[in-house]
Order: sequence, then C-alpha cells, then structure tokens
Amino acid sequence: MILQKMIWFPVFLIALTSLLQAGEPYIAKDYSYLIGKVPGFSEKLLQMHFTLYQGYVKNTNMIIEMIRNREVKNQQDTLALDAIKRRLGWEMDGMILHELYFDNLGGKKALIPNSLLHQKMIEYFGSMDQWKKDFQNTGLARGVGWVILYFDGKTQRLCNSWVSEHDVGHIAGGIPLLVMDVWEHAYITEYELNRQGYMDAFFSTIDWEVVQNRLLTCLKTNN
Ligand SMILES: [Fe+2]
Repeated sequence: MILQKMIWFPVFLIALTSLLQAGEPYIAKDYSYLIGKVPGFSEKLLQMHFTLYQGYVKNTNMIIEMIRNREVKNQQDTLALDAIKRRLGWEMDGMILHELYFDNLGGKKALIPNSLLHQKMIEYFGSMDQWKKDFQNTGLARGVGWVILYFDGKTQRLCNSWVSEHDVGHIAGGIPLLVMDVWEHAYITEYELNRQGYMDAFFSTIDWEVVQNRLLTCLKTNN
C-alpha cells in the first residue's frame, strides 16, 4: 500500500505541474475565517466584500480566456482585443489587491517596536506616528482607490502611495507591504461617509506579522 502511494505521488505532481503550466484559472480564496474576528467590520460588510472580490476573480479568468481564444482577423478585432487587454489590469489588480487587503486584516497585536519594518518607518518618516499620519492622509484623498505602503527593493525605501481605482498609481517594482481599500464599498454600510472612522477601525485590526513578513520575504528575494 505504501509502495503504491509512493509510485502515484510523483505522477500526481507531474499532472499538477502540467495543469498549472496550461494556465489553470485563479481560484477565489476563502476569507470567511475573518467573520467575527475583525472588530468594526460586520458580517454583512465582509460578506458583501467577499462577493465583490469573487467577481474580480471570475472576471480575471474570463478576460484571460477571451484573450487566449480571440482570433484577430481584421482591424476591428485588433481594437476589440486592445480593449479587452486594457481591462485585464483593472480586474486582475482588483483581485490581487483584495487578497493583499484581506490577508493583512484580522491582527490583534501592534507592530513590534524595533522590528525591521518599525525601524524603516522611523528612518523614512521620522516616527511610526508620522508614517501613520501620512498613510491616513493619503487615504482621505477624494475618489475611490487604495492606499498602499510600498517597499522599493532598489533603494530600500518605504513609500505611501494612492492608487486610483485598482490600476493607476502603482509604484513600478514596488512591493506592497500594507494595503488598505478605500473604495466606498469597503466601509459605507458601517461608517457611511466617515472614512476616517473606517481607517481607525482598519488600523486597530492590521495583521502586522503579515506586513512584516512581506518585507522580510522581499529582502530575502533581493539578496
Ligand atoms: Fe474592495
């Protein structure tokens, strides 16, 4: 029996690898574990947000398939394909940013003083309070989008950036460390137009371990 399992395991790995190489569709992650674990974020709000996120996953897969299967026979086809390709970044960034956002929610502990991330915040912003002030002020910009704390691996610098909708304003080559959704759907059912109230709730539930690990992973990859 054990021998049988040993024989089938490499076959399974080869089959899995082949499937991935063929371009398996993205699968929406299950974030239901966050329900009841994120103070200030009701079940209704989170469920609605998960449904929106699943829509981005579905549309990303659909657009990738459309691009893959599209035949280009004339100028009209070329223009149609261009339009579809322009849409891909919007949907795919919507999917990826939501995953980064949900992944950095649900923490209970503060950022460890003197951790590498803490040190870098002091280095580039003067203090963690100054960094937070800048991050939240960025989040008060009018419009819908995201606030992202980036790490630039080349210069080793931190940067708070505003991303309009999902796809405008990303720092090329920057690694998103902390991601905050500031589309109205992220807070309006709980906080109405009080974006500051939502950001305060968000800050009380950041998973700093996840954020710090993103920085460490980036540094390992760059070294
Ligand atoms: Fe969202």
